Amino acid sequence: MPDSQNGDKMPCTVVVGGFWGDEGKGKIISYLALKDKIDICARTGSVNAAHTIWYKGKRYALHMVPGGFVNEKCRLLIAAGANVHVGQFMKEVEETNVKDRIGVDTQASIIEEKHSAYDKTNAHLKGLGTTGWGVGPACEERVRRTAKLAKDIADLQPYLADVALELNCALDNEKRILLEGTQGVLLSLFHGSYPYVTGRDTSASAICSEAGVGPTKVSDVLLVLKSFVTRVGTGPLPGEISKEKATQRGWFETAAGTGRDRRAAPFSFELAKRATMINGATQIGLTKLDALYPECKGARNFAEIPKAACEFIAKVEKETGTPVVFIGTGPDSLDLVDRRK
Ligand code: IMP
Ligand code: MG
Repeated sequence: MPDSQNGDKMPCTVVVGGFWGDEGKGKIISYLALKDKIDICARTGSVNAAHTIWYKGKRYALHMVPGGFVNEKCRLLIAAGANVHVGQFMKEVEETNVKDRIGVDTQASIIEEKHSAYDKTNAHLKGLGTTGWGVGPACEERVRRTAKLAKDIADLQPYLADVALELNCALDNEKRILLEGTQGVLLSLFHGSYPYVTGRDTSASAICSEAGVGPTKVSDVLLVLKSFVTRVGTGPLPGEISKEKATQRGWFETAAGTGRDRRAAPFSFELAKRATMINGATQIGLTKLDALYPECKGARNFAEIPKAACEFIAKVEKETGTPVVFIGTGPDSLDLVDRRK
């Protein structure tokens, strides 16, 4: 494990999505990993979620490797509650060159081709519009207690770790920890728009539970909200606009993982409030503000944010009762206004 890069007492931050995923968590995580010199970044969730990270002109869409990889001193972990797709893991470890600093919990479960095949036939017949990676079936198998675990897989032997122990020892030693959630709280099996949800709870509490970090150890829950709302797959999306309108407004996106069109709707204060409540958010990261206010593009200081955009930010803070501490203004990890200083 790399040495701590900073001696002072530093927090354990949970990064959680506030809508249906794709809020830009990857970008905020990569910024924090670099700027706050995070010592350990642990990823929860499964392979269905792709975190997009632009760093040094290169785009990464990571399904397995934590977004903190951009900081070369950061230890990377995959939590006990996560599902590991072995092929995808090996591919990304190679691509990001993190072989010597990534660990997988011995108890992380394995997602296999049979899960994907089942997902593609059954979930799609039911019209759920899953990603087809097989996360629901893999979770089912884990609940049945028949799933393979990371410790059963030959290729994973060099990477095996006790993630809960590593994280808690690091916290005792005042290291900086980031727990990385996947997707968003509205896709949560418990709190989302069931049945149009993913196969697991995606809320901040679940992120802690998957990692093996108790709620008393968490200092901040950073809720990531995009300046407009998107959703991939089926299920309700209040205020949905047409693809044509989304394109005109610069809100049309395609999914980083599956390439499917993302449906779009305007920012919802109602949903933002609920997401703040369920996750106990203490901070908000508001991404893609440049999609609403193009004058913001590339801004790295609050002084560069135009008045109308400041009013929007103030309204988000008022409605959620939570400070907007990060504002995303462009794709690069460093295209961001950090208001903590
Ligand atoms: P599953 O997670 O593949 O079972 O898919 C269930 C629902 O969650 C579908 O509507 C997917 O489109 C959605 N979903 C899963 N992962 C992501 C993600 O990373 N971003 C956005 N939507 C996702
Ligand atoms: Mg994504």
